[in-house]
Amino acid sequence: MKPVKIGLLGLGTVGGGVVAVLRRNAGEIARRVGRDITIHAAAARRLGRAKAKAKGLGLDSAIIAADAEAVIDDPECDIIVELIGGYEPARALVLRAIAGGKHVVTANKALIAKHGAEIFAAARDKGVMVSYEAAVGGGIPIIKALREGLAGNRIAWIAGIINGTGNFILSEMRDHGRDFAAALQEAQSLGYAEADPAFDIEGIDAAHKLTILAAIAFGVPLNFDACYTEGISRVSAVDIAYARELGYTVKHLGIARRADGGIETRVHPALVPQDKLLANVNGVMNAVLVMADAAGPTLHYGAGAGAEPTASAVVADIIDVARAAGRKTEDRVPLLGFRPEVFQAGRSSPPSILPMEAIETSYYLRMTVADRAGVLADIAAIFGRAGISIEAVIQKDPQNDPQKVPGRDPQARIIMLTHKVKEARMNAAIADIERLDSVFGAVTRIRVESLS
Ligand code: HSE
Repeated sequence: MKPVKIGLLGLGTVGGGVVAVLRRNAGEIARRVGRDITIHAAAARRLGRAKAKAKGLGLDSAIIAADAEAVIDDPECDIIVELIGGYEPARALVLRAIAGGKHVVTANKALIAKHGAEIFAAARDKGVMVSYEAAVGGGIPIIKALREGLAGNRIAWIAGIINGTGNFILSEMRDHGRDFAAALQEAQSLGYAEADPAFDIEGIDAAHKLTILAAIAFGVPLNFDACYTEGISRVSAVDIAYARELGYTVKHLGIARRADGGIETRVHPALVPQDKLLANVNGVMNAVLVMADAAGPTLHYGAGAGAEPTASAVVADIIDVARAAGRKTEDRVPLLGFRPEVFQAGRSSPPSILPMEAIETSYYLRMTVADRAGVLADIAAIFGRAGISIEAVIQKDPQNDPQKVPGRDPQARIIMLTHKVKEARMNAAIADIERLDSVFGAVTRIRVESLS
């Protein structure tokens, strides 16, 4: 039988992994698909480097060219595998492939989160498949688990550690007392971080991934711009230490939750109780906890980045497409799990994404204050008027603390945990507290997620 021929765009870390896995496991993959899968053509930006790499991987370097469009337009290529990353030229190339009637496999979370609606509409029009398992959670088959394995469930919430670089940095800071910059540098040298590390440390990469998970779990349109996005660049060692003292670990979470009136989508650092499994996901590992009504909680854990874990997801997509192509089953699983044209009775549109002010959570707060009588009472009075209930308070002497406020002695550091309250109400209370003469500088806030 004729082999399934791949046109590969990008021969970087993941591209190399895909070639290695396809070659190493060729026999088993052929048995699973019923046909051989071969790499027919590839395009790479740095040609010399790519050809040398291809040789090392046992791939004929003559099939590698600089022109991605030529690979897409090659009539021999059945599936285009986009591993370039970023918004453009990936978007234009994927749309070109679809327009040419080619199936597409991509690992590009930025592309799907931002331009997925346009790409999926084009794919539907052309009757081709677009698969993107590798876009979220590297080697964890979370797209398939949500879209197919849990399709019978009503999902209540998802909480995920979906950026390995951020998790690696927080783990290093907590367990080895390393500073932020050194931990980031190591994550980059290990190949985990994005080309622009701001995507990792400012939460953009996690927001891309969460946008995709929320769309699949709740049937909302892909709406990256509506996702509240806060990174880890302002998480300090003192907060990690105080959180530990209070029984929590600081994690960078992506949370999508069904709430009254809509769907929360938010990415931010959070205090997670130390005894929860998510609190113990360390280093570059990813994990997604899904709370579903029938299955209950399921935890999907694995390597969220790296050449072969990501290649595992890309190759699984290639196998899916190769199995289905030409068999009139292209539309078997809707690309985002839900059929966009069908809504629940009584609804004319899918649920909306809630603004951050509408979410409700508990908070960890840290503030530096004048150490004199009545200060705590003033802060407590603001919370009392706002109807915010305090769960725990500790006071520390910031004597040898690098974040001590100069020239304002005697000073104290107050750390509080609150019960649940709407974000809008907490914003107002924090603004009132910051206006007190006895409070120095900004109040640090980290949301608490009990995951129960
Ligand atoms: N930079 C990403 C991460 C790579 O650290 O998780 C995988 O998307």
